[in-house]
Amino acid sequence: MYKAFYSLSATPFTKDLKTSNSFASTSFTEVSARLDYLKKARGMGLLVGEPGAGKTFSLRNFAESLNPSLYKVIYFPLSTGTVMDFFRGLAIGLGEEPKFRKVDLFHQIQRAVLVYFRERKITPVFILDEMQMARNLFLHDLSILFNFGMDSESPFILILAGLPNLQSKLTLNHNRPISQRLIMRYKMEPLNKEEVANYIQHHMELAGARHQIFSEPAVSAITSHSRGWPHLINNLATNCLLSGYQMKKELIDEEVVRVAVQEMSM
Ligand SMILES: Nc1ncnc2c1ncn2[C@@H]1O[C@H](COP(=O)(O)OP(=O)(O)OP(=O)(O)O)[C@@H](O)[C@H]1O
Ligand SMILES: [Mg+2]
Repeated sequence: MYKAFYSLSATPFTKDLKTSNSFASTSFTEVSARLDYLKKARGMGLLVGEPGAGKTFSLRNFAESLNPSLYKVIYFPLSTGTVMDFFRGLAIGLGEEPKFRKVDLFHQIQRAVLVYFRERKITPVFILDEMQMARNLFLHDLSILFNFGMDSESPFILILAGLPNLQSKLTLNHNRPISQRLIMRYKMEPLNKEEVANYIQHHMELAGARHQIFSEPAVSAITSHSRGWPHLINNLATNCLLSGYQMKKELIDEEVVRVAVQEMSM
């Protein structure tokens, strides 16, 4: 395999990268600072970005940074199941046996949040990912569920994450109840050219590369084809390693990138 050919000790650009091995891009550093603010302020925040921008990775990094004796993280991607499954999942995440009727379930979740916050001194942190799929009715339900109007301070942290259309959806008039409560909003940007080069270098070093494997023109070509989105860089760089190995090229050049791009039909 290409690992032996390029003398690598591990596979680079994998999906399950440890967050301790994150690359400190501008966007990643910026989103981490915003999430840190949300941690201190508590309440609702919004994180959007194009597919593969690094939203889930940044959220995972944030979740892992939280002290489990002070924060209870409940991560939910909206991609599977019905809306009721989703609310039941929140109750289960809080250690409850979910009630059957929606109204009872909502009271149950709210009570559980307050018990965590006031009695156990643990802040529940709800991370709702892939929220671009959310319908307006569901967003309305969320604004009701997470309305602890009587309390001056928020007993929870809620992060809504998704593709950029989530932000536009939230600006619609009927979604005002939830959007006006967002105390943090952030849109992830792609890596710039210099960052792409450093990102590739960073991943190659983590994989044990001892010398340069991607030439500068190859990095430029990867930058333009991926437009700086980490997920696309990962896929394209991996395909370059495969193609480069097949072509027996120790230094990956523009031609290898061209072949890899063709194979991926990018
Ligand atoms: N700061 C970073 N350091 C290292 N790797 C990163 C970083 N950001 C993103 N990645 C890598 O890019 C890949 C894609 O990121 P991620 O899955 O978080 O994107 P996403 O914005 O959630 O995409 P989608 O909208 O498709 O869910 C991840 O598998 C991760 O390995
Ligand atoms: Mg994601």
